[in-house]
Amino acid sequence: MQTVKPYHTGEGKKYQVQKMFDAIAGKYDFLNHFLSFGIDRYWRKNLIDEIGKRPHGHILDIATGTGDLAIKASGLKPDKITGIDISENMLEIGRQKISKLKLGTLISLQSGDAENLPFPDNSFDVVMVAFGIRNFENLGKGFDEIYRVLKKDGLVAILEFSKPARFPVKQLYRFYSRFIMPFAGKSISGDAKAYSYLPESVKAFPEGEALVHIMNNHHFANAHYMPLTFRIVSLYFGNKV
Ligand SMILES: C[S@@+](CC[C@H](N)C(=O)[O-])C[C@H]1O[C@@H](n2cnc3c(N)ncnc32)[C@H](O)[C@@H]1O
Repeated sequence: MQTVKPYHTGEGKKYQVQKMFDAIAGKYDFLNHFLSFGIDRYWRKNLIDEIGKRPHGHILDIATGTGDLAIKASGLKPDKITGIDISENMLEIGRQKISKLKLGTLISLQSGDAENLPFPDNSFDVVMVAFGIRNFENLGKGFDEIYRVLKKDGLVAILEFSKPARFPVKQLYRFYSRFIMPFAGKSISGDAKAYSYLPESVKAFPEGEALVHIMNNHHFANAHYMPLTFRIVSLYFGNKV
């Protein structure tokens, strides 16, 4: 898998990703909804609906960012939701939202790396990741860690960008992600690189059957995926056996 670095310097991808999200944290939620025309809420809802069909007592939200997915999962009435992220500025925005919503006893956000999770084996019924897995420096290590912290029969649920394959959405999406998204992202966030990194990282990331294959290689059973919205994003699922 090709590694795309946000700022193309000599620094490691993880450090650069952290710096990038720290820099745009204040504008992240607005840009998320603005650039996706609000459809990101529908994508997250689809993921949460699938999780609701399975035991979900303790949920881990990896790369939780500003906590939108964790907050959405609170509607499932789990016992506990833990969110983890490498960007302290993203987490801080998430904590403020959680406190405003009075969800502090249910959801806790902490700093930490997906590739070295600070949790014992067999801790969670569900591990979910939305728009985070593409940013991992070492995808295989990330999957191994998810598998390790899941309980037996636990579910991993992933939401990630994929690429529309058919005319005319393919061409429209390519134009949008190459020109409109980086321009709007730069104008609003003030960060020139963050929103050109997004389409580049999507292009370099394995999708569909290729990602399912990687999940199989990392021991997940029943690995499968569901494309949504002309394949702009896909949901991936798998179980620990
Ligand atoms: C595009 S945001 C997604 C945030 C949130 N899940 C959402 O749906 O809006 C990606 C997040 O992944 C985090 N991230 C990237 N690599 C990570 C890693 N190795 N461990 C933990 N978090 C990571 C970033 O800091 C950022 O907050």
